[in-house]
Amino acid sequence: MTAQAPPCAMVLFGANGDLTKRLVVPALYNLAKSGLLPAHFALIGVDHNDKTDEQWRADLHDFFAQTLAKGDGIDQTAWNRLAAGMSYLRGDFLDARTFVQLRDHLAERDKKDELGGNALFYLAVSDHFFAPLVDALAKVDLLKENGGWRRVVIEKPFGHDLESAKALNAHVLNCLREEQVFRIDHFLGKETVQNIMALRFANGLFEPIWNRDRIDHVQITVAEAIGVERRGKFYEATGALRDMVPNHLFQLVAMTAMEPPVSFDAEAVRTKKADVFKAIHPVSPGDVVRGQYGAGDIGGTNVPAYRLEPNVDPNSSVETFVALRLTIDNWRWAGVPFYLRTGKRLPKRSTEIAVRFKEAPYTLFRATPVDELGANWLILQIQPDEGIRLRFNAKQPGPQMNLENVAMDFKYADWFKQPSAVGYETLLYDCFMGDTTLFQRADQVEASWAIVEPVLRAWRNERAGDFPNYAAGSAGPKSADELLARDHRTWRAIR
Ligand code: BG6
Repeated sequence: MTAQAPPCAMVLFGANGDLTKRLVVPALYNLAKSGLLPAHFALIGVDHNDKTDEQWRADLHDFFAQTLAKGDGIDQTAWNRLAAGMSYLRGDFLDARTFVQLRDHLAERDKKDELGGNALFYLAVSDHFFAPLVDALAKVDLLKENGGWRRVVIEKPFGHDLESAKALNAHVLNCLREEQVFRIDHFLGKETVQNIMALRFANGLFEPIWNRDRIDHVQITVAEAIGVERRGKFYEATGALRDMVPNHLFQLVAMTAMEPPVSFDAEAVRTKKADVFKAIHPVSPGDVVRGQYGAGDIGGTNVPAYRLEPNVDPNSSVETFVALRLTIDNWRWAGVPFYLRTGKRLPKRSTEIAVRFKEAPYTLFRATPVDELGANWLILQIQPDEGIRLRFNAKQPGPQMNLENVAMDFKYADWFKQPSAVGYETLLYDCFMGDTTLFQRADQVEASWAIVEPVLRAWRNERAGDFPNYAAGSAGPKSADELLARDHRTWRAIR
């Protein structure tokens, strides 16, 4: 990131929401701090609560100050730069008057702050507002590009199954061109996720062995120690599969499995990722297992069962864990299973992509005490403790031929001074710059939903009979182990 973004207004629907406070505004502040925020910039918050500009600014400032790590004071110059452009508009998202007011306010700010007619509309709101908001903006001509650009950022979830995702895409693309739509998946804002492309395509070492000839299988784990927290209502309507798989986990699959693009141009990259989704077989319900946590112990603290969380049905059949087996039908990956798992209340927070290489022939060590060779793994640790680890076998010192599985470790923290970031900085900057590389295109979203559709359909008709089936703090239900045991494989420990 080097160039300052062009002048623009950013209109933030959901100005008093969690996402605004915890991620969007801190990311804008970080951009201001690093000099990348547009020199001419207006941030217009829209929400239904009554507030003055001053109150909105003060609320965000206070929340931000509280969340900063101890000892990290606010950089007042950066904050003032951001705050100077902030204004607040009270309005109902379903009331046409809100948008007439917004149009007038935007026109005024555009003139006064010389914003070049550029505007980014950020929908940090509940998903049932996505379509009505796009419609309402279009109705008052706010999406028309007359000299400046107009873009819309749409948060997750983008649909809740294939049909609803298609309908939302059709709706949105009725009012906007694809290049104006920025469908966010915040996993793509993580440095380590972006680094998968650098690892694969900026090194000559890995690509020649990154295929079915040398790779046995891939395991992708997104483990969380937290439960559903205050999101019981959302989670009851969503579950682990919808919440994590067709979006976050599939983005990790795509980064791992995609062919090298001809360039880092957005369309070239997005096309290669979409090709991966198109090559994945729709998952058969027999290749998926689900789980729900019971009470248990995490790091010495007793935690309640999912069914006892606030706003959760005491007989809920909603899954908080899912594990599945994917196959990718193309020349590179035929016969190489990708195993995915994600869950809440697992022993710790850990996201990793683990690539298991095929074994070496044993012949050489037949007449030695070596009875089993350890495996070669390349592990991309996405979070926390970001890094890359290679596991291989080495001879133990001494007269006998004894081998041990050892590790070569690279840690980001050892090499790079990480600027403080919440993970939305790159994504927001890309929106300002009009770079859609890290955003999902309509066909990617639909292809992802199509892959999980058979499972959604099967689960809709069949309640899970054995919930809760894993204790909080364990690595998930037994059925997840059985899924891999069928293929004579085991999961890596979550550590
Ligand atoms: C969100 C899900 O999209 O991602 C949450 O809705 C989940 O349920 C979160 O906890 C995980 O994101 P991160 O960045 O904390 O790994």
